Amino acid sequence: MDYVIEMLNIRKEFPGIVANDNITLQVKKGEIHALLGENGAGKSTLMNVLFGLYQPEKGEIKVKGKKVDITNPNIANDLGIGMVHQHFMLVNTFTVTENIILGNEPKKGSSINLKDAEKQVKEISERYGLSVDPTAKIADISVGMQQRVEILKTLYRGAEILIFDEPTAVLTPQEIKELIQIFKTLINEGKSIILITHKLKEIMEVCDRVTVIRKGEGIGTVNVAETNPNELASLMVGREVSFTTEKTAAKPKQDVLTIENLNVKDNRQVFKVKSLNLSVRAGEIVGIAGVDGNGQTELIEAITGLRKVDSGTIKLNDKKIENMHPRKITEKGVGHIPQDRHKHGLVLDFPIGENMVLQTYYHQPFSKRSVLNYKNIYEKAKQLIKEFDVRTPSTSTLARALSGGNQQKAIIGREVDRNPDLLIAAQPTRGLDVGAIEFIHSRLIEQRDNGKAVLLISFELDEILNVSDRVAVIYEGEIIDIVDPKETTEQELGLLMAGSKRQKEGKLS
Ligand SMILES: Nc1ncnc2c1ncn2[C@@H]1O[C@H](COP(=O)(O)OP(=O)(O)OP(=O)(O)O)[C@@H](O)[C@H]1O
Ligand SMILES: [Mg+2]
Repeated sequence: MDYVIEMLNIRKEFPGIVANDNITLQVKKGEIHALLGENGAGKSTLMNVLFGLYQPEKGEIKVKGKKVDITNPNIANDLGIGMVHQHFMLVNTFTVTENIILGNEPKKGSSINLKDAEKQVKEISERYGLSVDPTAKIADISVGMQQRVEILKTLYRGAEILIFDEPTAVLTPQEIKELIQIFKTLINEGKSIILITHKLKEIMEVCDRVTVIRKGEGIGTVNVAETNPNELASLMVGREVSFTTEKTAAKPKQDVLTIENLNVKDNRQVFKVKSLNLSVRAGEIVGIAGVDGNGQTELIEAITGLRKVDSGTIKLNDKKIENMHPRKITEKGVGHIPQDRHKHGLVLDFPIGENMVLQTYYHQPFSKRSVLNYKNIYEKAKQLIKEFDVRTPSTSTLARALSGGNQQKAIIGREVDRNPDLLIAAQPTRGLDVGAIEFIHSRLIEQRDNGKAVLLISFELDEILNVSDRVAVIYEGEIIDIVDPKETTEQELGLLMAGSKRQKEGKLS
């Protein structure tokens, strides 16, 4: 059999946990092979073993039939293995080319020949349809483009096998389409791909085979043509998963959040939120649908106090909160599940236990006269970790060591538990497995049923339509329409998000 990669009976342990136990993964040349499993199942760990970041305790790895010892990422590169990590590793102040050649600089005499490198980067970019500008600064390009720079970096180093760890979690629907096209070009050029994703639709659409792992153990490999999303979900979770969200009709009461005539600028002093009006009532979930970059981020930052409001008002329970200190706003009853869990959600080098009280540690019972009560803090943490199924060896494990999805569950648990009058959930299920998504959706609905207001921002249209009671469409910084999710479709919503307004009778213009 023509396997390019064989990982046989791999075992990898961390203190207190066996992350990979006897896992076998065999990848054929020219295929897109999915790696599927719940949050914390051990997918990233297995790929870090293949990329030489971790050494396995047991098992062997073969590349093109030859047994190899991948003791560091340079060896992986030499063997033609490249990895695009979920959290990019680029230097913001460097250009695309400078990042790509970092650690691998082409020398001419003693100085680095940047022009030659730029030419080469451009050539590779064109060959694979990546459309990356070799001279652009990383800080100035979109997340989607940054991901392409990571792809270019692996290709520049001669990768034949490319590992992608949840590449689509950070992308917008349009960018996902483009990435899938790039996958196809890569395969046509003779590359092989290992793809980690929680999106079963993606697996069905682009992959050839899928290997499933559950709680660190290999469950098996199936042909995508011979399976379906339901079977995949039950293979990974070990039980049936329902894909619809159960809920009764909302019984909205008074306004909790009232936004009037809001104007907010971005860092470059361009208005990103323009004369925006929106209200969210107690007992309802309002979803915001929009193409990325239409003011969603600035809107959330303005409500939570992370960004200055230029003009207009934001009221919480009828009291003005605009331009207040973020902590004040939190205290007044706003919870925030941020879209970037590493920047705003967690202190990665703190134990997960302490991360669970980031918003409340200075209050009783967690502290008294500025002295922290660790017993109470860790008791609370234990309760939340259990309730939200955060899989971690212990409460003292650093947040950094948790799997991506479990970091996300920890943040959601912390914010929901504070029971805020207004909960802002931005991309709350990003990186979560299907079972965890089901659970989080039901918790958001529970908040609503307890009379709280929930503002949901998501790029996943099916999430917006399933969970929200009203959907507000944001376009170029304005709410251009509010629709009933029961009376609209993904297609119609897509058109509204592209800026076409509805006419009176409900038809699209
Ligand atoms: N550096 C580390 N130190 C200690 N434990 C770790 C480390 N990296 C991972 N783990 C643990 O190993 C297990 C597997 O984690 P891994 O990141 O591989 O999961 P995953 O399948 O990628 O999950 P997700 O879908 O949430 O990203 C988890 O229990 C995690 O806490
Ligand atoms: Mg992972």
